[in-house]
Formats: sequence, structure tokens, C-alpha cells
Amino acid sequence: MSKKILVTGSAGFIGSSFVKLMLTKGDYEVISFDALTYAGNLENLDSLKDNPKHTFVKGNIESKSDLEKVFDEHKIDGVINFAAESHVDRSIMDSSPFVSTNVFGTVNLLDFSKKHNVKRYLQVSTDEVYGSLGATGKFTEKTNLKPNSPYSASKTAADNFVRSYYKTFDFPALITRCSNNYGPYQFPEKLIPLMIMNALSDKDLPVYGDGMNVRDWIYVDDHCQAILEVFEKGRVGQVYNIGAENEMPNIEIVKQILSYLNKPESLIKYVKDRPGHDKRYAMDNTKISSELGWTPKYDFENGLKLTIDWYLDNMDWVERVISGEYRDYYKSNYSNR
Ligand code: NAD
Ligand code: TYD
Repeated sequence: MSKKILVTGSAGFIGSSFVKLMLTKGDYEVISFDALTYAGNLENLDSLKDNPKHTFVKGNIESKSDLEKVFDEHKIDGVINFAAESHVDRSIMDSSPFVSTNVFGTVNLLDFSKKHNVKRYLQVSTDEVYGSLGATGKFTEKTNLKPNSPYSASKTAADNFVRSYYKTFDFPALITRCSNNYGPYQFPEKLIPLMIMNALSDKDLPVYGDGMNVRDWIYVDDHCQAILEVFEKGRVGQVYNIGAENEMPNIEIVKQILSYLNKPESLIKYVKDRPGHDKRYAMDNTKISSELGWTPKYDFENGLKLTIDWYLDNMDWVERVISGEYRDYYKSNYSNR
């Protein structure tokens, strides 16, 4: 009999891509669970509409009654938690939704998963919990946690709860920490889709500070494949870093996007820096590659082209997701910078 897996945050960027992968790669039944916040969009799961192994449930991980209902209705074997508030700039404007979803929501989910004896729980986390690097070195799983933004502080708190449930209750938890993702269906508030969309409409491309902050970029499908491998083969109680060894300063990415779209660099506008802006992230992925044999498949040039082409072909998707709420957010984040 196929295993029943509860995937939370399944209508977001990475969660939706993961659910599609999981249903093609193994004998699973997926219960998709998502609150459909501004970042969650059922359209992202359209291709699964007629799939008998996929059930969508609208629900909030902050709500005990929503979780009770889904755990009572389905015999859940495993849980993968993608549900989160995920944007650093929003966490700087207001941290409270980050505490509610990322911390309280995760603790709720841990409690219900424990009560219902799930056999495996995977927490999807981020390299941002490690803080910021100088010019050299990489984050390993042993690096101390030193989050600098309210977003990363909330993800760190969640990771600490997951760890504590493993230690205290022998709860079968695993944690993955991944670097910056890019690819289709990413909400256009994040660097790469925001720059693509602004360039296409000849709007300013707002680069924070000097544009020399470095992120380690990974194509979303590579991240999803890594999560599946950790979920299936990882050792309980362990953390696995995921990254594609692809460090790039922001300004270089912005220039590559402009060049691919044949747009002038005069669209670049250097704006006031993000407060507490982490300088550099870089992941050491030795553990996952040596223990589980995972390696990334996409190189950045190819992945970026696939991503830009997807946005060019799906402008109507972007139009639909950038609701009134997003327009207000855009104005308050960028108009006085
Ligand atoms: P996203 O913002 O695109 O999607 C988040 C999803 O969670 C949305 O569908 C939203 O509706 C849902 N959600 C939010 N609050 C919820 C709640 N209270 N209950 C139920 N559902 C809720 O985010 P993403 O980029 O797909 O990130 C997914 C996960 O991966 C997050 O946990 C994030 O911290 C982690 N992560 C992201 C990246 C990245 O580069 N995007 C990198 C590493 C880790
Ligand atoms: P982002 O996509 O928000 O991811 P994160 O902050 O989680 O790494 O930002 C990636 C980098 O791009 C980060 O250094 C901030 C920078 N950035 C800009 O320069 N301008 C922008 O408008 C945005 C959204 C991000």
C-alpha cells in the first residue's frame, strides 16, 4: 500500500514543485495542506487536479482544529513541512506572522505528528539560520546558528523545536537546510522573478546596497530531489545541508537577466540597503553527497534560461498572483528607498 504523506505549504513555490516530484518518483499518496496565503496559489497544483493520489486540503498549521481534522481523516505516515512565511523584507516590516506560522505553526505540526505517531517528519529549513559569512568559508551542518533577520530567527526557532522533539521524545525528525532557490512559480517578490518582471516592463531594477551580496543559487528541482532523498534515506535526528555550489553576487545575476532579455543596464537602480543584510551565504554539501549520493543536476546558466523562459510564457500567472495585497507591499518596500 502506498504511504500517505502530509505535505504542508504545498501550494507555494517549492512545495508545489516537490509534490509533483513526489507523485512521479515513488509509491506515495500526498495530502497537500496549505492556508493559501498571498504566496500560496492552487493554480500551482493544476496539473494534479485529476490525480487520484493527490488530495488538497485548505488549512492553517497555526490552527489546531485544522490539523486535528486532517490527521483524523487520514492515516498519515509521514510529514514534510514547507509551510512558512518566507520573505526577509516582509519579516523586517512585521515579524509577527513569521512567529505565528514558522514557530507556533511548526510546534503545532510537531505535536499532531507526534500524537499520531508519524514515522518520519522532515522540516524544510534554510541556510539563513547560520547567519552570514565573510569572504571565505562555507556553512557546514556543524556551523553555529546565528540568524540575523526576523525570518531566519523564526526558522531557527523552528529548527530548535524540531531538534528538541527528537532529543526529548525520540521523535523521528530530520532537517534540511537549503540555499536560495530559483525556478518557475516563484512569487515575484524574490530577487530573480522580481528582476525578470521589472525588466520586461522596463521598470527600475532595485538592487540593494552595492549589489555585492552573495547567495548560493540552486534550481528548485534539485532542491526537491534532495528533500525526497533525505526523506527516504536520511538518518533520523540529522541535519542535511543542500546547495549547488553556485555563488553569485546579486548584481551579476541582474546583469545576466538583462542581457538574456536584451534590456539595457541603465534600468539598474541602486537603492537603500536592506537592514541587517547578510553579506554572503555558501553551503558545504559534502554530507548529503557522500551519505546519500545526491548531487545537483542544473547549472546556473541553463536553470536561469529555463526560469526566464517560464516567466515569459506565463505572464498571465504573474498577473493573477500579484493581487492588490502585493501591489501595496511593493509600494511600501520600494517607494521610499
Ligand atoms: P512560499 O512563500 O512560496 O510558499 C509558502 C507556502 O506556505 C504558501 O503556499 C503559503 O500559502 C503556505 N503557508 C504559509 N503560511 C501557512 C500556514 N500558516 N499554514 C499553512 N500553509 C501556510 O515559500 P517557498 O519559497 O516555497 O519556501 C518553502 C519552504 O522552503 C519554507 O519553509 C522556506 O523557509 C524554505 N526555504 C526556501 C528557500 C527559498 O529560496 N525560497 C530556501 C531554503 C528554504
Ligand atoms: P531574496 O530573493 O529576497 O532572498 P534572501 O533575502 O532570502 O536571500 O534576495 C536575494 C538577494 O537579493 C538578497 O541579497 C537581497 C537582494 N535583493 C535586492 O537587491 N533587491 C530586491 O528587490 C530583492 C527582493 C532582493
